[in-house]
Amino acid sequence: MCGIIGFLGNGEAVPVLLDGLRRLEYRGYDSAGIAVLNQEGIVRRRAAGKIANLEAMLTSNGVAGKAGVGHTRWATHGAPTRRNAHPHMTGRVAVVHNGIIENYRTLRDDMRAGGRRFESETDTEVVAHLFDALLEAEGTPAAAMTALMERLEGMFALAILIEGDDVVLAGARRGAPLAVGWGEGGLFLASDAIALAGHTRKVSYLEEDDLALVRRDGVEILGTGGHPVKRPVVDTELSGAVIGKGNYRHFMEKEIHEQPVAVGETLGRYLDPDAGSITIPGASLGPGAVERMTLIACGTAYYAALIGKYWLERLARLPADADIASEFRYRQAPMVEGGLGVFISQSGETADTLAAMRYARGLGRTVLAVTNTETSTVAREADLVLATHAGPEIGVAATKTFTSQVAVLFCLAVATARDRGTIDHHEVARLAGVLTTLPSTLARVIAMEEEFRQIAWDVAEARHVLYLGRGTSAIVAMEGALKLKEISYIHAEAHAAGEMKHGPIALIDEHVPVIVVAPGDELFDKTMSNVEEARARGGRIILITDEAGAADAGPVADRMVVLPAVDSLVTPLVHAIPVQMIAYHAAMRKGTDVDQPRNLAKSVTVE
Ligand code: AGP
Repeated sequence: MCGIIGFLGNGEAVPVLLDGLRRLEYRGYDSAGIAVLNQEGIVRRRAAGKIANLEAMLTSNGVAGKAGVGHTRWATHGAPTRRNAHPHMTGRVAVVHNGIIENYRTLRDDMRAGGRRFESETDTEVVAHLFDALLEAEGTPAAAMTALMERLEGMFALAILIEGDDVVLAGARRGAPLAVGWGEGGLFLASDAIALAGHTRKVSYLEEDDLALVRRDGVEILGTGGHPVKRPVVDTELSGAVIGKGNYRHFMEKEIHEQPVAVGETLGRYLDPDAGSITIPGASLGPGAVERMTLIACGTAYYAALIGKYWLERLARLPADADIASEFRYRQAPMVEGGLGVFISQSGETADTLAAMRYARGLGRTVLAVTNTETSTVAREADLVLATHAGPEIGVAATKTFTSQVAVLFCLAVATARDRGTIDHHEVARLAGVLTTLPSTLARVIAMEEEFRQIAWDVAEARHVLYLGRGTSAIVAMEGALKLKEISYIHAEAHAAGEMKHGPIALIDEHVPVIVVAPGDELFDKTMSNVEEARARGGRIILITDEAGAADAGPVADRMVVLPAVDSLVTPLVHAIPVQMIAYHAAMRKGTDVDQPRNLAKSVTVE
């Protein structure tokens, strides 16, 4: 959600903080602010809206100082105004925060009664006042931070700038990520390593309830109970170039185009094309080891989970459920003995997914994580990690991480089917061959961009759009509708085509484009019957199919795109690309903010 950064170094803090904030802006962009420490004390600048507004303010009203904290906000408590923008300051401290302080009302009421005055509606300002008071009472930042952690409830990461102590920055992590960066020119705290690209690749990830005390001569990390602990220094392999836009207009556009490589890199970890084998290293998937799989995630990752469920049932004949993380634990879903929980999250920090994973662990179940972030909390707490290797995804709309997740889940389904004996090694080798050619097929589909752009311009005029499909194509339809809503703000619904006649068909008229995802598989004719029903009621049909489907379709569609034919099992990977590109170009046509759509944030670390 929010992005936080802290810096203590030899050079000026403001350029470093702004650079980090620009890289963290994908986490939230409701407001931005910095505070730096100089001879005058702590000086702050804040602006509502994007970081560009803060930059403009700093151009006309700059500040100097070699230490500071910065923040980019996704509003939870209080409107996205300047007054509510971080850092929040009082006395000797300035605080930036990501997450939610759940007991902030009680703390604020107590402190108000004690005479403290609050300026904002945020939960964060409570931390500033409490820490300032504790610093007075306890005498040292270490003792004050320890006491602070005892008083705060919720999930959060904090970076605090302190005046008048050799500890210039203090950081804390509970439920939301925080990394320490070890650079040549300075020391850092940051929500993630992306913020530090170009400054340092050496980072240490804090563990739950760790504190970090940053002095000029180094960083001391304290674990629970205030005892010094060592956290490994890892090389992030992120460079400024890797996370730039290159020649693309948007990160989303770049990330759509990166899918052949992202999926290829990911498959490379599970697929041996020469041996014709697909393996999930470290996993026991046969009967006795796994009796049921429950796949849990949010948003786009949930759609990947649904596709995984279809494959596990079909290929491995294994009972499988897909569930939305935010619902799973609150309805106290049972997980049978021998049930494996599969938690899917590109960021590995989604609060709902993490909470559901902890719930499953609490039931004593083995948990497996599919994530693009191997250093994330979800990865660290899982029994086994199946990594996607899509590279950093910055656009808020998930694209390459979705297809990479789906690729991993296909490998998981095939490996499970093999271990359960529902497919033999000849079929595994055949499917390995199918996967081997997949990246080049994705590249061919991406090359059809102009066709998708034309459809998108048509769709961009609509107020409502329907997406239809059957089987795994119904899930691709759902992903298409989500993408369209997220970045073009067009109302879109997706339905399993067979469900139309049970209600949604009432929505259809000549103003509603109906985008049908229908590869020429065994469900094609059934889908086409539903398409005829929609067409008979004036619906404008846009058909996304393949060569076999096009040959059978007849004159049903107002527009049709014909994708390369692939094995019917892997069509979701191929058909995901047109729905992503239609959403992208519809947003371009409408002029919306593609990479930072309104009200959203990339990594959702609050419940
Ligand atoms: C997708 O376009 C979304 N931005 C969103 O639904 C996302 O997939 C969801 O928040 C889950 O994120 P995660 O994969 O990082 O857990």
